[in-house]
Amino acid sequence: MLGHVLLAASGSRLVRRSVSGFPLTRRVVDRFVAGESVPEAREAILRLREAGLSVTVDHLGEETRDAGDATAITKAYLTLLEELGPLELGGAAEVSVKLSAVGQALDEDLALENARAICAGAAAAGATVTLDMEDHTTVDSTLRILRELRRDHPSTGVAVQAYLYRSEDDCRALAHEGSRVRLVKGAYREPASVAHQGKAAVDKAYVRCLRILMEGQGYPMVATHDDRLISITELLADRHGRSRGDYEYQMLYGIRTDRQEALAGAGHTVRVYVPYGDDWYGYFMRRLAERPANVAFFLRALGGK
Ligand code: FDA
Repeated sequence: MLGHVLLAASGSRLVRRSVSGFPLTRRVVDRFVAGESVPEAREAILRLREAGLSVTVDHLGEETRDAGDATAITKAYLTLLEELGPLELGGAAEVSVKLSAVGQALDEDLALENARAICAGAAAAGATVTLDMEDHTTVDSTLRILRELRRDHPSTGVAVQAYLYRSEDDCRALAHEGSRVRLVKGAYREPASVAHQGKAAVDKAYVRCLRILMEGQGYPMVATHDDRLISITELLADRHGRSRGDYEYQMLYGIRTDRQEALAGAGHTVRVYVPYGDDWYGYFMRRLAERPANVAFFLRALGGK
């Protein structure tokens, strides 16, 4: 219930203004966001690398309503990639892109053009790109853009949200050789007409999608902090003869850091999603919605404790 309220608030401009303007909010946001600037993100990335973790970096922003803003976000990605290149992170570097940040809601061709520029910048920096998945109305468009991008940049990956009824079919279509699929539970408020509701149903759907990806020929990126799903991934990897380099785990910056390091210490590739930038509101509200305890933490910080 609280999660639904927070997800509704994540789309409210009024709540955004009040929350963003509150000075103590920053302290709480820092738990989930690696700073506002590229140098701050760079520092966080180097710390994670030292701990044996790979990264996927997100320049925060979504639902851009102006072509100029979409171009500015594209340029921010290109600057970021220029900074990442000299760090020589190799396969450890990836960027994550929300197509709505680079113009998807304005014009699909604009988003494609901007995403192409980011893929070219990533190739020059020796990095890969994965497309985030946003609300259900954007899935077809995102998969169309993915197909176009893969013509020149076949390593481009995409997130699939297990909570959508359609996702088992999408996983089947994407489980081919060379395909990189990040399986997530799904973080948006979706109606029962398109998505499973409640943790038990979503977890079962996640396992069905995971099975398809692990059986298939692609590279599954298992993006979850859920121990049960991690155990099931290990069973499926054994069953399908996948060794540790044939799939990877992904988790969010600031969430279950001990688990990230333990998995990496056991020889797994663990990629941490590192968001940075000043447009953190939507991202932050989705993290609060995922876990009521985060709200208590937030309220305590607002109270100065
Ligand atoms: P679940 O929510 O059941 O959590 C399992 C456990 O993890 C919890 O018990 C708790 O210990 C810990 N945990 C989870 N979330 C937490 C939080 N916010 N704060 C503190 N602890 C927390 N979604 C989407 O719709 N589109 C996308 O493109 C992406 N991209 C993406 C990339 C990566 C790398 C990750 C890890 C996740 C996403 N997501 C996403 C978010 C995803 O859909 C989902 O909302 C979160 O990962 C939480 O789900 P879990 O699988 O962790 O399970």
